[in-house]
Amino acid sequence: MSVLKGKKVLLGITGGIAAYKTAALVRLFVKAGANVKVVMTPAAKEFITPLTLSTLSKNEVFSSFTDEEDENEKWNNHVELGLWADFMLIAPATASTLSKMASGNSDNFLLATYLSAKCPVFFAPAMDLDMYKHPSTKNSFEKLQEFQNIMIPAGDGELASGLHGEGRMAEPEEIIQFLEHHFTENLPLKGKKILITAGPTYEAIDPVRFIGNHSSGKMGYEIAENAAKLGAEVILISGPTHLIIDDKDINLIRVTSTREMYEAAHSHFENIDVFIAAAAVADYKPKVVADQKIKKKDDSLTLELTKTEDILASLGCKKANQKLVGFALETNNEVENARKKLKKKNLDFIVLNSLNDKGAGFKSETNKISIIYPDKKKDFDLKSKKEVAEDILTEIIELLNA
Ligand code: CTP
Repeated sequence: MSVLKGKKVLLGITGGIAAYKTAALVRLFVKAGANVKVVMTPAAKEFITPLTLSTLSKNEVFSSFTDEEDENEKWNNHVELGLWADFMLIAPATASTLSKMASGNSDNFLLATYLSAKCPVFFAPAMDLDMYKHPSTKNSFEKLQEFQNIMIPAGDGELASGLHGEGRMAEPEEIIQFLEHHFTENLPLKGKKILITAGPTYEAIDPVRFIGNHSSGKMGYEIAENAAKLGAEVILISGPTHLIIDDKDINLIRVTSTREMYEAAHSHFENIDVFIAAAAVADYKPKVVADQKIKKKDDSLTLELTKTEDILASLGCKKANQKLVGFALETNNEVENARKKLKKKNLDFIVLNSLNDKGAGFKSETNKISIIYPDKKKDFDLKSKKEVAEDILTEIIELLNA
C-alpha cells in the first residue's frame, strides 16, 4: 500500500511544456489512493486543459480567484485550499514561478495558494538548461529550500529546445517515487518494532468445547494497521477472530490458547520497542483438558479452573528498554484499579475502557478511553476504534520521543 493513500494533494501546474506530463502524474496519484486538487496558472492552460485534469482528478480545477464561466462568479478561496492539503507539489515549476515564490509575489491564484499553504511544499523545476544553470534560478532554489520547500531535482536529457542537458522535469513515476520515499523515511514510527496481542484466547475443555469471551479483536487490529501506516514493523499475535489483515507488511501470528499467545509474545519480546496488550486473555482455564468429548450425565457439571499465564505481567518482569502498554476494563473504582494494574504489570501507560460509558466495550464499533500514566490521566471522547487507535499511537510516539 502506498504511503500516499488518503493524502490530500494540491498539485500546482505552471506554464511549461512538461505540463503535458501532469495528466500521467494525476493518474498515478489517484492510483496510489491520493485525493488530488489541481491549481493552474493561466499559462499552464496553454499546455494542458483543465477538463483533462478535472476528469482525471475527479475534482474541480482552480486557476483564478473567481470562476469566470460561472454567471454567479463564485469566489475561489486560496486560503482554504492551502489549508486543505497534506502537501503541495508544484510541477512543472517554471523559472518565473520559482522566482515569484522566492520573492513572495502573489500575482496569480497558484502563488496566493502557495503563500497560504502551511503544509510541506515540493517543487519539480522544468526549464531549459541555461535557465536552470542561471545564478538567479539557483538563487530561487536556495531561497525556497531555506523556506523548507523540498526540491525534486530536474533530470538530464533532451529538452524541448532540442538541446541536451539538465532542466527536464523529473518523470511522473520518479516524482511519485521521490514523494513515497520522503514520506516513508519521515514516518514517526519508522525503524520501530511493535508487538501487539489482539482478540480473545480460547481454553479447551475437551476436543469440542472451550472457554472463551466476546472480544472481536477489532481494537488490536486497528492499532496494528495504524502502526504499520505510521512506519512501524508490526507483529500481531491474534487469538481466534473473523478479522483479516490487508496489509502484507504486518506479520500476523494466529494462536488459540493463552499458552500459545504467551509463547509467541515471549519469543519476539527481546527485539521489540513497544508491546501493546490489546488481547482479552482468558484469566482461567480448565485444570484438566478431557481428551474425549465429555458426555452429558448428571444435572450439573463442575469444572475446576486454574489461572492462565499473565502475558503482560510476565513481560513487565522482563522489561528492559521496551515500552509496555496494557488495557483495563473496569466497572468500579476504575481509575484506582487501572493504576494498580499499571504498577503491578510495570507498564508505561494503561488504556482504561469503562463499562459505565455508553458505546464502549467488546462488540461495539466505538470506544471511550482514558489513558492513565503513573502521574497523569488524559480523557478522550467517544470515538471509532480506528480513531482510538490513532490516539493511542500518538501517545506512544510521544513516549518514544520523550
Ligand atoms: N493480560 C494478559 N494476560 C492475561 C490477562 C491479561 O496479557 N492472562 C493483559 C490484557 O491484555 C490487558 C491487561 O493485561 O492489557 C489487563 O487485563 P485484565 O484482564 O483487565 O486485568 P487482570 O490483571 O486480569 O485483572 P482483572 O481481570 O481481575 O480485572
